[in-house]
Amino acid sequence: MPETFEEFAFHLHTNTIGPIICAQRLLQTNIPIGTIAFMSSDSGSTQNFREMEDGFAAYAASKAALNQAMRHMAAELKRKDDDTILLALHPGEVATDMANIDVGWEVEGIITPQESVSSLIKVIESKGIQHSGTFWTWENKVSNAVQHKGVKDLY
Ligand SMILES: NC(=O)c1ccc[n+]([C@@H]2O[C@H](COP(=O)([O-])OP(=O)(O)OC[C@H]3O[C@@H](n4cnc5c(N)ncnc54)[C@H](OP(=O)(O)O)[C@@H]3O)[C@@H](O)[C@H]2O)c1
Repeated sequence: MPETFEEFAFHLHTNTIGPIICAQRLLQTNIPIGTIAFMSSDSGSTQNFREMEDGFAAYAASKAALNQAMRHMAAELKRKDDDTILLALHPGEVATDMANIDVGWEVEGIITPQESVSSLIKVIESKGIQHSGTFWTWENKVSNAVQHKGVKDLY
C-alpha cells in the first residue's frame, strides 16, 4: 500500500488527473482529433484483478480511475454527437525504464517498446466510434472480457 498521502496523490496526479485534464483541454480547442488513446495498464483492470501485485495499490487505483474517467468522458462526448474516439490501452509488459524494478512475482511475456507501439497502433486503427470508452490490450484482446453495450472490453 502507498505509505503516504503524498505518494498516493502523486500517482493520481500523474496517471489520472494529468491525462484526463490534458484530453479535456485538447477537446476544448475544437480541433478535429480522431482518437485519444490513454496509456492505462492491466494493473488497473477490475475484471482481470492482479492480486499478486504487492506495492502497486496506488498505481493500480490510478489506472482504474483513469479508465473510469475515460469511460465517462466518452459517454458524454457521444451524447454531444462528438465523434472523437477515446480508448484506454494496456501496452503489454514492456522492457522500459519502468520495468527495471524488482517485483515479487514473475513477469512473463516481456516485449520491446517497438513491438508494443506497433501493436497498439493496429489496435487504435481497428476501433470506431462504437468502441469509444473501452479498454484494450496491445494484443487487441481482452481477458475476462465483459460485454458492454455490444462491445467486449477489459474493465
Ligand atoms: N512498461 C510496462 O510494462 C507498462 C505496463 C503497463 C502500463 N504501462 C504504462 O505505459 C506508460 C509508459 O510507461 P513506460 O513503460 O514507457 O515507462 P518509462 O519508460 O518509465 O517512462 C515513463 C515516462 O513518464 C514520464 N513521467 C513519469 N512521471 C511523470 C510525471 N509525474 N509527470 C510527467 N511525466 C512523467 C517519464 O518522464 P522522465 O523520463 O522525464 O522521468 C517518462 O518519459 C505509463 O503510463 C505506464 O503506466 C507500462
